[in-house]
Amino acid sequence: MATFDILVLPGDGIGPEVVAEGVRALEVIGQKYEHVFRMEHDIVGGASIDAYGTALRDETLAKAKASDAVLFGAVGGPKWDIPTASVRPEQGLLALRSGLQLWANLRPVKAEPALLHASALKPEVLEGTDIVVIRELTSGIYFGKPQERRLVDGKREAVDTNYYNEEEVARVAHLGFKLARERKHKLTSIDKANVLATSRLWREIVVEVSKEYPDVSLEHVLVDAMTMHLIRRPRDFDVVIADNMFGDIITDEASMICGSMGMLASASIGTMKEDGTGLGMYEPIHGSAPDIAGKGIANPLAMLLSTAMLLRHSCGLETEAQAIESAVAAVIEEGHRTADIASPGEKTLGTREMADLVLAKIGG
Ligand code: IPM
Ligand code: MG
Repeated sequence: MATFDILVLPGDGIGPEVVAEGVRALEVIGQKYEHVFRMEHDIVGGASIDAYGTALRDETLAKAKASDAVLFGAVGGPKWDIPTASVRPEQGLLALRSGLQLWANLRPVKAEPALLHASALKPEVLEGTDIVVIRELTSGIYFGKPQERRLVDGKREAVDTNYYNEEEVARVAHLGFKLARERKHKLTSIDKANVLATSRLWREIVVEVSKEYPDVSLEHVLVDAMTMHLIRRPRDFDVVIADNMFGDIITDEASMICGSMGMLASASIGTMKEDGTGLGMYEPIHGSAPDIAGKGIANPLAMLLSTAMLLRHSCGLETEAQAIESAVAAVIEEGHRTADIASPGEKTLGTREMADLVLAKIGG
């Protein structure tokens, strides 16, 4: 019987509602497959600002470092959205990514056949789409210094700095090529090399790394062109690597391929151990969705799929991960829908009802 320490950080908005379902999924998996998930709860983001004046306490980060995985909901909301505030909920998320050295963010984008009609795009364009985007997560314009607002001659100005070094690019490239090897042997690297120095370095390093993977085909696509190709011919992509900012933007776009952001899971991982597992943070990409918070209508599937990724990447429990993924696919296939993925007139389920259906399939 294996034991895993999980730090649960629900955060703000719909975070707590969906995280509760991830926690239940771990309990069901624990019972069925005889594992112990020792779960500790803490607060982060706006909730932490309200209670402690900071988006992430040092002791919370220390607890995260000492655990096997972090199950994360979402942070942010209008209450804390003050442009001049020095403390912001998102700082909690960024400090976790950076503090835990989770430099790769895996975001799988798969078009479920039964959900093709939930997308704004044509079903025949989406059919067969199966992409994994790997977003660099601990460098680039999110973390480069200086990053500040200042007054110069009485006028407001602000600066962000985009920075990359070769190691930061190389490790993402290696991960991308290795993953492509297990899939369709195709890697697409996104950059803006016609304008940015960081992108020219990115491209140069990716080309150097590619020499070790002659069996994987590599293409470079400029990020602006990529936003177009993603909705015109999404099926053509396999593994996509991108820097922090571009990865953030194209994965929101890619989520529309799945019909809703409520379907997109993510795993943030760092340098893994010999056996391929290691500390990771798992979160749905949909964010805190303050407009529907507290209503019990949020789609729990992205959270459940993120929990599956936790089992796979941090616990090395592939069968258990697949149990969740198959249960989610089956529930979708049977026609059950939360509001975000329902067609007009279709019956919609709440967060708990939807999760109950998935958990019943796993537990059975
Ligand atoms: C994401 C989010 C975050 C990001 C925000 C909440 C800071 O958009 O995980 O994609 O920009 O990385
Ligand atoms: Mg984002």
